[in-house]
Amino acid sequence: MKIIDNIKELKEEINKLKGSIGLVPTMGALHDGHLSLIKKSVMQNENTIVSIFVNPIQFGVNEDLDKYPRQLKQDASLCEKEGVNIIFAPKVSEMYSCEKNNLTLICPPYEVVDKLCGKSRPGHFDGVCSVVAKLFNLTKATRAYFGQKDAQQLFIVKKMVKDLNFDIEIVPCPIVREEDNLALSSRNQYLTENDRKLALNISKALFNIKKLFKEGISDIKVLIDASLKIMDGLDVEYIEFVDKNTFDFQTKVDRNTLVLIAARVPESKTRLIDNIDIWE
Ligand code: PAJ
Repeated sequence: MKIIDNIKELKEEINKLKGSIGLVPTMGALHDGHLSLIKKSVMQNENTIVSIFVNPIQFGVNEDLDKYPRQLKQDASLCEKEGVNIIFAPKVSEMYSCEKNNLTLICPPYEVVDKLCGKSRPGHFDGVCSVVAKLFNLTKATRAYFGQKDAQQLFIVKKMVKDLNFDIEIVPCPIVREEDNLALSSRNQYLTENDRKLALNISKALFNIKKLFKEGISDIKVLIDASLKIMDGLDVEYIEFVDKNTFDFQTKVDRNTLVLIAARVPESKTRLIDNIDIWE
């Protein structure tokens, strides 16, 4: 496995590769969620490239860019075990020669970013799409792997690929959870013991919605009220019901419903997201 931090060497190595290339874009601090994407890529492709880059242009001014966990050594040994061929871990200056306001960006339309995570994180998805597009170009990947944990990100990346005719297949991967159902996230490292206990109520609320729906309750207000009760003590940013194919808000639950939650825990103020497909 090669660990590469510059574009020149990356291009040289990629030119030597034979067969399909799977790309797993990450910001590092790898956990079993990331590893599930990596395993799938290694299974489906002759070559797998994992990018590890804490992308500054997708962070807002008051967000956790500086404290985001960086642990390349540990990440590299996990990747090596999985059979990854190349880790691309560039410095910021290698990826961006100027400030965000001077860069050519890919900006998804207002309609898809003015809701859910995009609403409280203005510019976030411009940063995500722009870095993902650069990684697609740099790696010449034929497939790229994204987790359903970041459902709006996955939806927007798929739309970008379709709208801009990127020649790449986006492979969605299911959410990996702890035994107690907490969705894995690099940001779980920030949680205090008490935060972690409360954080569990996010997935509890989601699984409860699914259970109630199966019992015949499809009134969104009833489902939201039950969830907010479960999430008492958390600062809930949103709980929304969308059609998973369009990301349009729904007024009634049906088999296409995806329920999404973003909430902050009280002590570390960590912002967590999770979602559930009501029908699966
Ligand atoms: P990051 O948060 O590191 O996540 C990298 C990939 O891992 C994303 O596709 C994310 O959805 C997936 N992932 C994270 N936790 C998961 C879990 N519990 N189960 C399944 N998949 C999970 O998302 C980003 O980085 C960045 O925005 C990036 C796409 C790399 C662009 O900078």
